[in-house]
Amino acid sequence: MNYNIAVIPGDGIGPEIVEEAKKVLDAVGRKYNHVFHYTEVLMGGASIDKTGVPLTEEALAAAKKSDSILLGAVGGNVSTSPWYILPPALRPEAGLLALRKGLNLFANIRPAILFDELKGACPLKDEIIGNGFDFVVMRELTGGLYFGERKTEEVDGIRTAYDSLVYNENEIKRIARWAFDIAMKRNKRVCSVDKANVLDSSRLWRQVVKEVAKDYPEVELTDMLVDNCAMQLVKDPKQFDVILTENMFGDILSDEASMVTGSIGMLASASLGDTKLGLYEPSHGSAPDIAGENKANPIATILSAAMMLRYSFELEEEANAIENGIKNVLKKGYRTVDIMSEGKTMVGTKEMGQFIIKE
Ligand code: NAI
Ligand code: MG
Repeated sequence: MNYNIAVIPGDGIGPEIVEEAKKVLDAVGRKYNHVFHYTEVLMGGASIDKTGVPLTEEALAAAKKSDSILLGAVGGNVSTSPWYILPPALRPEAGLLALRKGLNLFANIRPAILFDELKGACPLKDEIIGNGFDFVVMRELTGGLYFGERKTEEVDGIRTAYDSLVYNENEIKRIARWAFDIAMKRNKRVCSVDKANVLDSSRLWRQVVKEVAKDYPEVELTDMLVDNCAMQLVKDPKQFDVILTENMFGDILSDEASMVTGSIGMLASASLGDTKLGLYEPSHGSAPDIAGENKANPIATILSAAMMLRYSFELEEEANAIENGIKNVLKKGYRTVDIMSEGKTMVGTKEMGQFIIKE
């Protein structure tokens, strides 16, 4: 098959890590008979320097036309880069928000995987880690508290502020479907997280998720209150397969989930909408402190490319091939600087990419 991928290298380490992910995709293409065509799209600081804005209409149109999007990261050193003298709407990160909005990407998936070989980096105790864990947090991205009506005003001479948390059943249905679809490709368990003991929006959430679950009889659905979930993530993360939750709970829980794996250079993410077109990117930023030094860990970006194969192109075997390649390289003891430990062999960005291709 032929696939058209919009590639957004972005800023800082972005171009270096995206380059390695492209090479890995090409290697998968050679092995399984696929051709990946890349169209480079400008975004972030790179776009500001050339066009004056972080995302042009043409760039957005090119992304929309593609089958899927692979992104490095955008942004520079916030205290020294001239991009940050600009008003917020013209800064690099505004390009990313415009892209997510322009493509209506309402579902954000962040896997939290603890690779056997990196158990040492996990802040949890050995007895909690056990045989490791592998779950995903599925966060609703375009509704809820962050998008509701808000206001700050004086009420009887007292400064008062409010934000509103609104969800309608359609918004809940579409994200729930993604969660169940993904659970079907994994271990067939969804844990829906809410605060239904207090919030009306959570009670509707719980009801609608249950209704959607009827279409997925093979998937086991459980509910959990968000405060309990925050505890369970550090007490027993092994219990989870897919955690499904609304925007703010997901924002907080996905950061917590990523930290229990202990390594920022390893965390992939996907943002999905109503179509197969998704945005795949590492969870970390553009790391301007190590840009251009061949030091960045490309694994989060390469894992994001594997997610693209799985979720946008339905190439499960190919996605597994990438993930197994990464596991083998780690088993052999190769490490970039961010995951380096005693007795291991330190390698650079390019070398890590090459080793993964070999595996
Ligand atoms: P960051 O994630 O870029 O870096 C934090 C620390 O982790 C740094 O010490 C960096 O060297 C290290 N690090 C990050 N990724 C790494 C990798 N792949 N391999 C090895 N080490 C790695 O976060 P920071 O410093 O807060 O932000 C830098 C810039 O990135 C800012 O302009 C920020 O706005 C932007 N940013 C962009 C994001 C995106 O494009 N989605 C997300 C987060 C931040
Ligand atoms: Mg956050």
